[in-house]
Amino acid sequence: MPKVIALAGKGGTGKTTTSALLLKYLLDKKKTPVLLVDADPNANLNELLGLQVGLTIGQVRKEMKGEIPAHISRDQFMEMKMHQSLIEESGFDLMVMGQPDGPGCYCAANQFLAMAMDHLADNYQYILVDNEAGMEHLSRLNLTSIDHLLVLSDPSARGVMTAGRIADIVKPLNLKVHEKWLIVNRAPNPVPPTLMDKIEQTVLNAQLPLAGIFHSSDDLIQQELSGNSYLALDSDLPIIQEAYAVFDKIL
Ligand SMILES: Nc1ncnc2c1ncn2[C@@H]1O[C@H](COP(=O)(O)OP(=O)(O)O)[C@@H](O)[C@H]1O
Ligand SMILES: [Mg+2]
Repeated sequence: MPKVIALAGKGGTGKTTTSALLLKYLLDKKKTPVLLVDADPNANLNELLGLQVGLTIGQVRKEMKGEIPAHISRDQFMEMKMHQSLIEESGFDLMVMGQPDGPGCYCAANQFLAMAMDHLADNYQYILVDNEAGMEHLSRLNLTSIDHLLVLSDPSARGVMTAGRIADIVKPLNLKVHEKWLIVNRAPNPVPPTLMDKIEQTVLNAQLPLAGIFHSSDDLIQQELSGNSYLALDSDLPIIQEAYAVFDKIL
């Protein structure tokens, strides 16, 4: 059974950045193969990895509405298309969810997707899911449990309180969450004591333990601007060391 790690948090808090760093970590530590799922309708994780998106799962679901070849069943068709949509790299595959159903959803397609996902999941040691701010896409993946839910927050009192609430939105999704953690991202160095107080409050009130704090990093900003893959970031950089220390602690 693969371990499932999901990232959550408000828009712009660093979910996609942290997904890319976590992928780099899993590859470096040989915790592979990894299925990386971009579950944000406005997919952009691929850009941080220098990869082009082909077929998205949203498009596959749409194809399921139309004619399918006569010689195969719908679930076989789904499975075949799902494999086609995977971007296969060394140590990991990237799956891009793409746009959700509009009104008049062909919900049977989601059931086929769920079945195909079940089969596919067995091939991996880790499934890493970069989410949109809401987590609606998660229910389509048929994941029944999350081993590690990482909730990202910006470095503000309100941001940290919001993270506490986001950690709870998984409850109605019928998902078992085994461990949830808070990561405060883009923090100034040093972290102001008032922010530290807020973090401690949230940790207590929302039962959301602090995994760690990532400081604001010019190296990340530079890498994003350069368009080079985050996998090529130098392991000696402070942000990589910080991130790896956090991942060592929680995985
Ligand atoms: N620790 C950090 N230091 C500097 N910039 C960061 C850091 N984390 C994220 N960013 C930048 O913040 C922006 C939003 O991050 P992103 O990971 O896309 O957030 P999300 O996926 O939650 O919307 C990006 O431009 C990213 O480069
Ligand atoms: Mg994102």
